[in-house]
Amino acid sequence: MKPEILLIEPMMPDIERQLDAAYTVHRFTSIAQLKDIAGNIRGIATGGATGVPQDVMDSLPALEIIAINGIGTDAVNLTQAKERNIRVTTTPGVLTDDVADMAIGLILSLLRGLPAGDRYVRDGEWGRKSAPPLGRKVTGKRLGIIGMGQVGRAIAHRAQAFAMPVSYTDLRDFGLKDHTFVPDLKTLARDSEVLVVAASGGAGSRHLVSREVMEAVGPEGFLVNVARGSVVDEQALAQVLEAGKLGGAALDVFEHEPEVPAALRHSPRTVLQPHRASATVETRLAMGELVVRNLAAHFANQSLPTAVI
Ligand code: 8YV
Repeated sequence: MKPEILLIEPMMPDIERQLDAAYTVHRFTSIAQLKDIAGNIRGIATGGATGVPQDVMDSLPALEIIAINGIGTDAVNLTQAKERNIRVTTTPGVLTDDVADMAIGLILSLLRGLPAGDRYVRDGEWGRKSAPPLGRKVTGKRLGIIGMGQVGRAIAHRAQAFAMPVSYTDLRDFGLKDHTFVPDLKTLARDSEVLVVAASGGAGSRHLVSREVMEAVGPEGFLVNVARGSVVDEQALAQVLEAGKLGGAALDVFEHEPEVPAALRHSPRTVLQPHRASATVETRLAMGELVVRNLAAHFANQSLPTAVI
């Protein structure tokens, strides 16, 4: 008998085929769907931002493993998972490059106004209406990074090719030779022309990027978020942008996805993406393979390749 698992967020067809071959896969639609099958479900595969809703976790008494197709664990109740002896795995390493590439892409898009230029050409306005406003030079801008984990470091590495001096803040100084540690976030914000969020989500980082931090970045500065929407006070962000107290923001993540405040959607100072930083064929395949390997190891009683708990 194949073990039964719950797939909460769709994965690539190739990956789902592998899951279907090894397990009886229930594709999650609603809590009501679980009524008759809850007691059989031993595993979950889900996305990083989607995680496991608390009512789903509560309704699965036989749950043994949650395999996250991502690196964020903020949408899974880890405390409860530990108490219930539920293993949790993520997909570290394989998405670092893509997320860093997205951060650089967003910096370029925002400062150079690429979406506005694209619209201008696409809408046939070139030669008819005045050109979009001049952009801002990226090369040499002072870059501040919040969260100097794998992703933060990969962004810093790329920024060096743009001759951007890099400073960062984190829970501690990593003693990195090319990058300056700044313990105080407001100081980092004040000294940065581009401030990038690369910190994990969760209670500890909620609204770390406050109104004061954004105002410290200032009217000539820019905010980029490729981490979690919860790290930025989104309401305050909309207000500082509207008031011209922050130059612009490029966001791949939002506080209440897929909801995006109208003020951010309509602002000429924003560049927006629908949580796409790891969304490439290559990376989603590599992530999916890790999910498959973690589940397979668990059900074969082997040690898990990338366990968090
Ligand atoms: C993915 C993410 O988009 O890694 C994470 O935590 O949020 C993203 O890489 C997501 O996990 C896929 O749904």
